[in-house]
Formats: sequence, C-alpha cells, structure tokens
Amino acid sequence: QELQLNLEQIEKGGYDHFMLKEIYEQPSAITDTYRGRMLVDEGIIRMAGVDDNIERIAKAKRILIVACGTSWHAGLVAEYIFEDLARIPVEVEYASEFRYRNPVIYENDVVIAISQSGETADTMAAIKLAKEKGAFVFGVCNVVGSSISRETHAGAYTHAGPEIGVASTKAFTTQITVLTLMALKLAKYRGTISDSDFRHHLQQLEAIPAKIAKVLETTNEHIKEIAFKYKDVSNCLYLGRGYNFPVALEGALKLKEISYIHAEGYPAAEMKHGPIALIDEQMPVVVIATKMGHYDKVVSNIQEIKSRKGKIIGIVTEGDTEVKELADYVIEVPDTIESLTPLLTTIPMQLLSYHIAVMLDKNVDQPRNLAKSVTVE
Ligand code: G6P
Repeated sequence: QELQLNLEQIEKGGYDHFMLKEIYEQPSAITDTYRGRMLVDEGIIRMAGVDDNIERIAKAKRILIVACGTSWHAGLVAEYIFEDLARIPVEVEYASEFRYRNPVIYENDVVIAISQSGETADTMAAIKLAKEKGAFVFGVCNVVGSSISRETHAGAYTHAGPEIGVASTKAFTTQITVLTLMALKLAKYRGTISDSDFRHHLQQLEAIPAKIAKVLETTNEHIKEIAFKYKDVSNCLYLGRGYNFPVALEGALKLKEISYIHAEGYPAAEMKHGPIALIDEQMPVVVIATKMGHYDKVVSNIQEIKSRKGKIIGIVTEGDTEVKELADYVIEVPDTIESLTPLLTTIPMQLLSYHIAVMLDKNVDQPRNLAKSVTVE
C-alpha cells in the first residue's frame, strides 16, 4: 500500500494531481509535437502521414472530422484552421451521431478521426463506416499503437506523453498543434497561403510553448483567487467567438467534469438568443476577449452582461485596458496570431476548473462517473 502511494507520488512528479502535472507539461508536450516536423528556418513541415498521401488529402472536396469529448472540441478548432488556411470545407461531427445517422460520405472525402486514447468505441465505429464508404481516414491519436491508430489509413501522433487525468488537457493542445501543422502543410501545397504568411505561422507556433509557460507562471496565483471567489456557484457560462468558441465549450466541459458545477459554453453572439436570460448577479461569465477580429463585438457582449449584473472573468491579451474596466477579473495571455490563440486561452480555463475542483475537495484525476477511455457505446 505504502509502496503504491510512493510510486504514485513519484509519477506525479511533485504535483498534487496528474491533471496539474499535465497542465504544466504543455510547453514541453507541444514542443515534442512539432519537434522534427516543423523546420522553421527552412520553412518546411514534414509529416510522413500527410506527405505520403498529400494528393489524396489536399484534393479532398471536403474533410469530415469525427471525435468525442475534448477531442471533438479540438476538431472544432481545426475546422476554423483548415477552412481559414487551406480553404477546404470541413464538417465536424460527434462520432456517435455520425455512425448512427446514415451520413453522406463520398469516396473523395477525407475523414480525420481525433482520439487521445485511440480506443473510443464510437470513434472507432465511425472510422469503420467511413472506410466502408471508401473515404480516406487519417488518425490523430496520442497513444502509440492504439486501435484507432492501427485502423486508419494514415495518421500523425500527438506525442503528448501519457495523459492520466481523466479530464483531458495536454492531449487537447497537442491535437490542435498537429492539426495546425497539417492545415499549414495543406495550405502550402494548395497555394492558399503565401510563403511569408506560412513562415510567420511557423515562427508564431514555435513561440507558443514559451508563451504557455508564461501564462502558467504569471496567472496561476491570480486564478486561485478567482477560483476561491466563485467555487460555490451552481452555474457558470463560458463565451467565445471564432477560434475561441470551441475553447469556451472546452472551458465549460472542464468545469463540469471535475467540479460538477453546471457550465455551458456558447458562441458569444448567440448569448442574446437564450443564455442572456440566465444572467443575474449570481452568474459568473468567463469571456474570451483577446484582441482579435471580433474584439469590439465581444466587448459589447461584456457590456450586456455587466448591465445585467453578471460577474465577468475576462481572458484578454496582455496590456488590454477596455475589458479591464468592465470585468470583475481579467486574466492576461500573451499576444499571438488569431489561429493560435486557443493554445493560450485554454490554459487559464484548465487552471480555473482545477483549482475550483481542488477547493471543493473533488477527485480531480478520477471524477465520478467518467472514464479516461470509453470503449463501450
Ligand atoms: C472520455 C474522456 C474525455 C475524452 C473523450 C474522448 O469522455 O473522459 O477526456 O475527451 O473520452 O476520448 P478520446 O480518447 O477518443 O480522445
């Protein structure tokens, strides 16, 4: 028994929980994901699974992404990246819905299946269906040699290292990293990105791990205070727009999973079609408001929340002043290009739910009723 405990402590590497360890591993996990694939000085991305099938993938009329849970959220971020950079239409589906609804799949479709464990039953079934219909199936898995990695035609591993905490953290950010590399590669091949823009993306991606390290270093204590303030709420709303809409969904999922507080993620502009009715002085709203395309629109959403006395936690770009004036709390993340903001804005959300769950004395690494990999339907 004692030996077992000590072993676990060693495995946690000095952290109280696997989840926290895995949150803090993200700078090195992302570096491991792009190491050897992204040659910044040469302006090249090498990914064997993509290189070997480049014609097939780049000429796809459409990409279908299938996944579950957090991996599905990574798929949603990928939808924005692929459409924005490579100009290929993308549809993102819950694997469980896809497999049961007689989907239209063409032979020239490319299906990307995303799965940390590589064992999720619904995702596996969706892959089999897509293969039967003649689509090309590309896997993005973390666990090397997993069932999904073997069942797909080609793939790319995330190389995040083992993820033990049931709530996914580093798997999510490394999935986004792999999918960004893939989208950039396809964009280059298809001529939908200029050379200078391509290089700029590589440089910005290379800078992400250090920026995540900075977020971890500079925001953790402040986030603990915010967690303490809101740990007893029974509802929480998460809003984001564009690339950060999926991050709002993921932030809400993290809170639900480990703290059992009801949380919903919404696209910020949809607030007026429903969630706004929920806002009162009891309701904390986490709003991702980085200085990007839709910043002004998000600021006006924040004003609407404020006028209804909602409590605002803004996730903003360093140096922001506008949101700071309106929000109850702000958490700053470094500046980057829009497509890479999810890699930074996700981090405070992970920490916020982690600290709330710890303060509520919940089983962070093994939340009730949840499993790390769901091998049943
Ligand atoms: C379970 C886990 C989630 C995970 C989802 C999909 O619900 O608790 O953390 O996102 O399965 O798992 P996969 O291994 O396919 O990414």
